[in-house]
Amino acid sequence: MIVLGIETSCDETGVAIYNTMPWENAQPASQGILGQALHSQIAMHRKYGGVVPELASRDHVRRVLPLLDESLAQSGLTLKDIDALAYTQGPGLAGALLVGSAFAKSLAQGLNLPSIGVHHLEGHLLSPLLGETAPQFPFIALLVSGGHTQLMKVSGVGRYELLGETLDDAAGEAFDKTAKLLGLDYPGGTAISKLAEKGRSGQFDLPRPMLHSGDLDFSFSGLKTAVLNQVKKFQEKNISEVAQFHADLARAFVESLVAVLVSKSEKALKQTGCKHLVLAGGVGANLQLRAALNEKATKNGFEVHYPPLDLCTDNGVMIAFAGALRLLVANNGSTTSGAFDIKPRWDLQSNNLI
Ligand code: KG4
Ligand code: ZN
Repeated sequence: MIVLGIETSCDETGVAIYNTMPWENAQPASQGILGQALHSQIAMHRKYGGVVPELASRDHVRRVLPLLDESLAQSGLTLKDIDALAYTQGPGLAGALLVGSAFAKSLAQGLNLPSIGVHHLEGHLLSPLLGETAPQFPFIALLVSGGHTQLMKVSGVGRYELLGETLDDAAGEAFDKTAKLLGLDYPGGTAISKLAEKGRSGQFDLPRPMLHSGDLDFSFSGLKTAVLNQVKKFQEKNISEVAQFHADLARAFVESLVAVLVSKSEKALKQTGCKHLVLAGGVGANLQLRAALNEKATKNGFEVHYPPLDLCTDNGVMIAFAGALRLLVANNGSTTSGAFDIKPRWDLQSNNLI
């Protein structure tokens, strides 16, 4: 089965074509990726310091057709070869979601094909199955993106149990807000990570929020405030070593955030008896987080699985792949009705198959 996937939930337009044959027969599942094209709007939004929803929607409209052509050209296929369409139905920005949904559903109707609405986070948490060492079910997924921070138990495709989540800022949001405080461009995740490498450990004693809360929830807004307080103190002192100050503070921020994410992930593994951990979402590209998880995995006897680095942030492949698996496992595709059915706010567990 060949599935065309469309992602437009936020500031990336992604289109991809996935063939389920390798998934059914042989690994690695990444062999099924026949074509993929992506356009990031980051440069467009940067001057506003964050995503401007209306600009995002308009840009998705501009990009989606050329990206479809690019994916088809890569795959050597035509629209006649497509068996089903998958699109991000939610959660995300309403206007942006509408573009992908209207596009996919119209195409499905025109081609008389089934279409399936995919939960964006399901796309993220299944994408490590496309990595070099695919995890076995059940596994724990640490989902860390710009909008979400969650620990999930994944027992199979469409079988998700939320174990804990952030009570305020998401991990990516904390990265982006802290980056702003340190004078870095939006989105600041990668920039903070690079800056932290130049910083010295132990220069600041930042909080490790909810480290000992006894549950699997997170809270990152206090961490960002602690960074803000240090920045204010620094301005009062007018210290000349700005660059080193920023690097040391970035280091302390990353160390705190990583310590909490790693500790709660280990707790989730212990609590559920799972031996496999999957890291997904944009913050999953963070090298300090990966290094810390790898170290703990070796020490404490569990395995960590990652999506390919280019599939950590938003993309069309994960939507084509998740849609394809749902269609395979549960025959869960609805024939398109042409209705607007986006879900800007959507709880993943409510979409469980059993
Ligand atoms: O999953 P994603 O592409 O979009 C959402 O669904 O939110 O995640 C984007 C987030 C941004 O907050 C960005 O700063 C963060 O992922 N990010 C990183 C890194 N690369 C992206 N955070 C830390 N380190 C990175 N290397
Ligand atoms: Zn995402």
